[in-house]
Amino acid sequence: MLELTNITKRFPGVLANDSVDFTVEAGQVHTLLGENGAGKSTLMKIVYGLYKPDEGEIRFKGETVKLASPNDAIQRGIGMIHQHFMLVPTLTVAENVALGLRGNLSRADMGPVRARLRDLSEQYGLQIDPDAVIWQLAVGERQRAEILKALYRDAELLVLDEPTAVLTPPEVDDLFVTLRQLRDDGKGLIFISHKLHEVMDLSDEITVLRDGRVSGHTRPSESSREQLAQMMVGRPVELHRTLADVEVGEERLSISDLVVRGDRGTKAVDGLSISVKAGEIVGLAGVSGNGQRELAEAVLGLRPVEAGEIKVAGKPRPDPTPRGVRQLGVSYVPEERMKDGVVGEFTVAENMILVDYNKAPYTKRGLLDFGSIGRRSRDLVDRFSVKTPSIEQPTRHLSGGNIQKVVIAREFTCDAEVLVVAQPTRGVDIGAAEYIHERLLEQRLNGAAILLISEDLDEVLQLSDRIVVVLEGRVMGEVQRADATPQAVGLLMSGVTA
Ligand SMILES: Nc1ncnc2c1ncn2[C@@H]1O[C@H](COP(=O)(O)OP(=O)(O)OP(=O)(O)O)[C@@H](O)[C@H]1O
Ligand SMILES: [Mg+2]
Repeated sequence: MLELTNITKRFPGVLANDSVDFTVEAGQVHTLLGENGAGKSTLMKIVYGLYKPDEGEIRFKGETVKLASPNDAIQRGIGMIHQHFMLVPTLTVAENVALGLRGNLSRADMGPVRARLRDLSEQYGLQIDPDAVIWQLAVGERQRAEILKALYRDAELLVLDEPTAVLTPPEVDDLFVTLRQLRDDGKGLIFISHKLHEVMDLSDEITVLRDGRVSGHTRPSESSREQLAQMMVGRPVELHRTLADVEVGEERLSISDLVVRGDRGTKAVDGLSISVKAGEIVGLAGVSGNGQRELAEAVLGLRPVEAGEIKVAGKPRPDPTPRGVRQLGVSYVPEERMKDGVVGEFTVAENMILVDYNKAPYTKRGLLDFGSIGRRSRDLVDRFSVKTPSIEQPTRHLSGGNIQKVVIAREFTCDAEVLVVAQPTRGVDIGAAEYIHERLLEQRLNGAAILLISEDLDEVLQLSDRIVVVLEGRVMGEVQRADATPQAVGLLMSGVTA
């Protein structure tokens, strides 16, 4: 169905794709696997007409094609679900689907669009209200809207760039049901994910990219998670961890009876209490949207506290603004790195000092000291293996996982005593995830108090001394490491108590 031959794509200072061959047949899920910055999204943007390859040939349904724009790709039957969504937030699902279609439909003509959307969503189990406005939808629903938009345009080949990175485990299950059905209907699917169990579960074919080149090809029946990790990274990767014994110290973060309102005005955190001691990782598990984000934002001074109390090192925060809280030695890895973690237009170096640029040695006598800023940035780029041609690169040009590494590098190296870490390895490749987990455990050994918020149950189970499960802004229950099984935590997450 799709045949890529010898595709090469260069950016200034970067060879993103290097003579790549890649084929997808109709009725097949072909997974593209590779480390952050390996060139997966670039290759897919070429398939979708967003980038023009410098060299190479694209054949689609037996014909050589030149794809000058996404419109070209869509006309030919190629659809793409992006790593960062592309819907218009103020329009409804149906309006987004109709957008750009011939004749630009007015609101009055939406009847047929709605009807066909309903048919499609029924056929493929993609539940959605065609009249819902995008910004009010949860990420899982937005994604269904994106898929429906592509299907509405009769896509025969669907590119899904890390579709599961933003989904909860039950949503992933639902998505996979849909994707299998699409495959069985004869669609070609290209799937990208860093989660190896998903890759093993869904793929028919797997192609591995490393540094822009195809480094291997395999199938789930001929491989294992360990082998896939090795193919990607070029060395064996530790997929399981044990915790070293640490003597826990005093209470560093204490939250009692906290009430915080969410964006829609309802109580997102509703009487929650939790405490984290020095040398301890407390995992906060729960299906997303149960108050985790609002809790983190309240602790960091990014969202007002309506009732209850937050104490750092035993005392109420004297200045509950983001700057005041950071001065107490609290650092934060936010869940949405593009929105809250970095300034995309800033360089890598600028983002590396975003939270402490006003301190020595980065500022001397009121002036920025570019020498020490450069030294620190280069050191962090090196230690955290951030893939970038230079520290002067605008951060938005980095691949998704490498942007996450910039945030992690900055937040893990400012001598924090309390770390609030949300979804630290979302979208991060397996080698980098291993590295981030090691750094997190190192912080624990050094006596930091860590609140780990993650939807990745494996991650929470592997790293936490205790797991607190939240549901609807309240604590559903707590499980000690020794008793923490996926079943025990999963049951609490769905609201079942012993
Ligand atoms: N528009 C751009 N300008 C400059 N460099 C770019 C641009 N887009 C991508 N790159 C670079 O090309 C390389 C490949 O990036 P790409 O986004 O394809 O990686 P990826 O495999 O999708 O990684 P991830 O798993 O982190 O999403 C990276 O080094 C990236 O910094
Ligand atoms: Mg990518």
